[in-house]
Amino acid sequence: MEERRLGPVVGLGTWNTFGSDAALAGGVVSAALAAGIRVFDSSPMYRGAEASLAAALATRRDEATIATKIWADSTAEGREQYRRQREWFGRVEIEQIHNLAAWRAQLGWLEEERKEGRIDKLGLTHYASTRFDEIADALRTQRFDVVQLPYNPHEREVERELLPLAAELGIAVIVMRPFGEGELVRRSPSAHDLAPLRAFGVETWGQALLKWVLSDERVDVAIPATSRPERPAENAAAGRPPWFGAEERALVERLAA
Ligand SMILES: NC(=O)c1ccc[n+]([C@@H]2O[C@H](COP(=O)([O-])OP(=O)(O)OC[C@H]3O[C@@H](n4cnc5c(N)ncnc54)[C@H](OP(=O)(O)O)[C@@H]3O)[C@@H](O)[C@H]2O)c1
Repeated sequence: MEERRLGPVVGLGTWNTFGSDAALAGGVVSAALAAGIRVFDSSPMYRGAEASLAAALATRRDEATIATKIWADSTAEGREQYRRQREWFGRVEIEQIHNLAAWRAQLGWLEEERKEGRIDKLGLTHYASTRFDEIADALRTQRFDVVQLPYNPHEREVERELLPLAAELGIAVIVMRPFGEGELVRRSPSAHDLAPLRAFGVETWGQALLKWVLSDERVDVAIPATSRPERPAENAAAGRPPWFGAEERALVERLAA
């Protein structure tokens, strides 16, 4: 297996933003590439986003790391999703089992694909803390390289077991919902409140939240989604050092409370 560390970087999520709107995808993905974003997360669940993402990457596919998912009850359906992904993307760098769907059944053939070098890393995802025990069991098999979890100042359950476990096992962590599905960025603290974070390259509340996530050394990639081409540059900037210490993270937690 190759080097596991993927970050710390900001990637791009694709749930509920451009879907099958190829023109919108083109604008957002071009802006993301221009901002230096390389990790693109998608899923067969995201209403056409995989195909739009592939079309948007077009001639720049080799600059991207595709993190997509298998979301299927049967291995036949899972293999069919993978076949289409290979048509769209050529290959899949990070293949994740979405919402733990039939993960024990899917894992065998996916490991075969990894062994043959057609997939670089295997992962799994779930958004609900009620399923974190099962995620932990799956990680302890040591058959996964990556795990995707929700993490933001309002959702910190992963700190209890999954982040320490991923660090101990050398498993990369991709963070979904860094803005709590947009909830956390609906209201921004004042410029005065954010002033102590300016020395860390933070100009906006969105950047403060992303830097809060990535300053946890156990995290590799944060994947905020956006439907606005002006935002990838803002978000990507939060993926560069200097990182927050305990004091700055505590400030962000207070501002988010
Ligand atoms: N595996 C799973 O179970 C699962 C579940 C959920 C999500 N995910 C993955 O994780 C990704 C991220 O999670 P998410 O999409 O649920 O939520 P999120 O990234 O926490 O929030 C997305 C929202 O933030 C807004 N936004 C983005 N950048 C902003 C900025 N700089 N300032 C202000 N608002 C900003 C977007 O609005 P605009 O469009 O207006 O920019 C959008 O409404 C998903 O897209 C998906 O790839 C996976």
